[in-house]
Amino acid sequence: MADKPWGGRFREETLKIVERFTASIGFDQRLARQDIRGSIAHARMLAAQGILTREEADTLVDGLQRVLAEIEAGSFAFSEALEDIHMNVEKRLTDLVGAVGGKLHTARSRNDQVALDLRLFLVDEIQDLLDLLRGLCEAFLDRAGPEADLLVPGYTHLQRAQPVTFGHHWLAYFEMFLRDAQRLRDALGRTRQSPLGAGALAGSPYPVDRERVARDLGLDGVCRNSLDAVSDRDFALEFLFCASVIMTHLSRLSEELVLWSSQEFGFVTLSDGFCTGSSIMPQKKNPDVPELLRGKAGRTYGNLIALLTTLKALPLAYNKDMQEDKEPVFDSLDTVKGSVAIAIEMVRGLTVRPHRARQALKAGYLTATDLADYLVNKGLPFREAHEVVGRLVALCDERGCGLEDLGLDTLRSFSDRFGADVAGVLDPGASVARRKALGGPAPDNVRREAALGRQRLDAVWPRRG
Ligand code: ARG
Repeated sequence: MADKPWGGRFREETLKIVERFTASIGFDQRLARQDIRGSIAHARMLAAQGILTREEADTLVDGLQRVLAEIEAGSFAFSEALEDIHMNVEKRLTDLVGAVGGKLHTARSRNDQVALDLRLFLVDEIQDLLDLLRGLCEAFLDRAGPEADLLVPGYTHLQRAQPVTFGHHWLAYFEMFLRDAQRLRDALGRTRQSPLGAGALAGSPYPVDRERVARDLGLDGVCRNSLDAVSDRDFALEFLFCASVIMTHLSRLSEELVLWSSQEFGFVTLSDGFCTGSSIMPQKKNPDVPELLRGKAGRTYGNLIALLTTLKALPLAYNKDMQEDKEPVFDSLDTVKGSVAIAIEMVRGLTVRPHRARQALKAGYLTATDLADYLVNKGLPFREAHEVVGRLVALCDERGCGLEDLGLDTLRSFSDRFGADVAGVLDPGASVARRKALGGPAPDNVRREAALGRQRLDAVWPRRG
């Protein structure tokens, strides 16, 4: 058993089937870069604290860099017998630099090492995801100003409700994805804590400098309890939750674009590059991209539930169950990054069809509330005004006409508060323009919020590089 770093106490070989079952190298090789970064910081600290000599640490750092180069060149032979990325790297290091390689693991366990690796990995990846979210927020802001005057029906219960504008609609999505970015940035703070030095579970008898390692790795601080440090995966759960919310928002956007690009709505067209045809129906242009975005939300929820369930009821401290943390994280990460990247292009590439949206505003009495508000301004209590307009709507239904088609005499037969100034109240553009309280769809509001949105975005996640 000398070939296994932990082989000392064993008299029999590990069964092959057990090796295959317990190995994580098939997926945790994705942590190679972070594993080596962590090891380099650890070796430097060991030398700074006099636990290793300067020469020993230099040899280790040099060897680790060579291992990394091999991994990046694709020439590294990963071994299942060596179980995971940590032992694969350490074994190759020892092949390259000799017995001194065996000193790297002084004052360290794979338990604090793997917790560090996953944190470093998520820190890198969350920052890339934040850049992508920023791009998506900008795509909405870029549309909002120019489309601030373009009317579109707003819906509740998927029934035409009140007029809004395309610009206002895009800003709703801007708010969602800005919150998603805020949430991720908050999670980033709790992820940037170093567990290294917690050892297997009970800390280290060596004079380690944990803060130095954290600083060296660009982290904000250290996990303050060794048992918690090796068993905490809250940071992974937070990431999986954040990814799930992003995918929820993308699925809502997608569903709307599927509806809006249908013949029935016709409010937008997706660019040809985002659609596919049918192998049998020559006329078809299918919105595959938003459909697939909508469909991919499910797997991110599954990943969140999977890790919650894995962690549920685990006693302190490290348990092998926790090896199951990585694949859900990798899958959600790939899903959410790919999805946000394509959503940016989809939003930028779509064309609005304002004439179709205006057409849709003609039926459905979308300004009935404005007529009630008119009566309220004339002194009628809102409930009574609501009742009067409700009866007018019923009359229009009978006659098959719109509220604007009823003459002043008819209106006055329902309430003597109607006057000549009612003309124009039913106009959807006027309706939107009156809604200038904060958060409302008035075009000036939307233009102002689009400009302010850029500052708010900078405050959450400024452009990098
Ligand atoms: N491959 C393991 C994981 O991913 C690394 C830590 C193993 N520690 C242990 N004591 N077996 O969780």
